[in-house]
Amino acid sequence: MSAASCLCKGGIVAFPTETVYGLGADVFNTTALARVFEVKRRPYFDPLIVHIAELSTLMRLVDYTAMDAEAIRRLKKLANTLMPGPLTLILPKLPEVPDLATGGLKTVAVRFPKHSGALALIKNSTGAVAAPSANPFGYLSPTRAEHVAEQLGNDVDIILDGGTSEIGVESTVLDLSSHLPRILRPGGVSREEIEAFIGKLDDVRPEHPHTEEPVRSFNIGQCLSPGQLKSHYAPRTKLFLLDTDFLCKEAYKRNCAYLFFNTVSFDLWKKNNPRAPLNGGHRNIFILSHNGDLRDAASNLFEKLHCIDAAAYSAIYAERAPDKGLGRAINDRLEKASNK
Ligand code: TXA
Ligand code: MG
Repeated sequence: MSAASCLCKGGIVAFPTETVYGLGADVFNTTALARVFEVKRRPYFDPLIVHIAELSTLMRLVDYTAMDAEAIRRLKKLANTLMPGPLTLILPKLPEVPDLATGGLKTVAVRFPKHSGALALIKNSTGAVAAPSANPFGYLSPTRAEHVAEQLGNDVDIILDGGTSEIGVESTVLDLSSHLPRILRPGGVSREEIEAFIGKLDDVRPEHPHTEEPVRSFNIGQCLSPGQLKSHYAPRTKLFLLDTDFLCKEAYKRNCAYLFFNTVSFDLWKKNNPRAPLNGGHRNIFILSHNGDLRDAASNLFEKLHCIDAAAYSAIYAERAPDKGLGRAINDRLEKASNK
């Protein structure tokens, strides 16, 4: 059976996107949606992103009557510029969109991915595919089909292999349902890129809840995204996130992994650790991007963390990335990984 007909018949399919792999189900099939939550061990309060392959599908999902003229202007602008791409928009939902997909919220998250394999799957199935990242809840997102197979294996009907995800961190979640648009999760599109099209974004971010307790007070205009939970995207290994200065002063420990942002930081650290036995192939040294390119670093982040996690180090010392562009998404994931 093809992956598309599997989705049409209520199956669940893991598929590649340009950000990370997703675990898809027809958004209008609540039995299939329930299976996605069950397989991921994801709490039902955490809403899913609906993936579309053409803008006209928004008509089946979004309640335009609940949007003011300014919100519709922003939606049009972003639809014409950054979609398809790694951007998820939070918009008022039509009653037909099942509550199970939206965690009981009055809003729906919509994303138009850029990956040709994802687009073909969505187009050839039901046109609207709800898909969280294809990992167990709270764990690292998969950027390769092998990650999905290792983490969810037999629980999934089909795993489509599309190679390594190009961007490597999840989409940016942008709330367009409140008076001022704001980023609920930094991701593959930077704040700067979004602001270039729709102007300044609201800076106020809601407080992080301190636990993964259900957050029940979702409302349009008062939206706290479960992606903002303090602890998320976490490897099993304990992770310490340090500013460059501090990491470079950290003494070498044989059983720990070191995750540097670039080669400059690694060289500084080496100077402070002249006796570190690094000639044996630097097995516990990981560098996100040798020349410090933020896109390159983002695309390597989950891959390196998966790799470190598989090697059973007693801790990871990770360097904070520059706090701009995709660096914000990298730091967000590292901060959440360090709050285990
Ligand atoms: O790049 C991505 O976004 C990937 C690929 C597969 O598309 N998907 C992904 O899905 O990261 P997931 O479920 O792991 O993250 C979706 C985030 C969650 O933090 C969820 O709480 C938030 O989007 N979200 C979904 N619907 C929402 C809504 N109505 N209001 C606020 N946040 C919402
Ligand atoms: Mg996820």
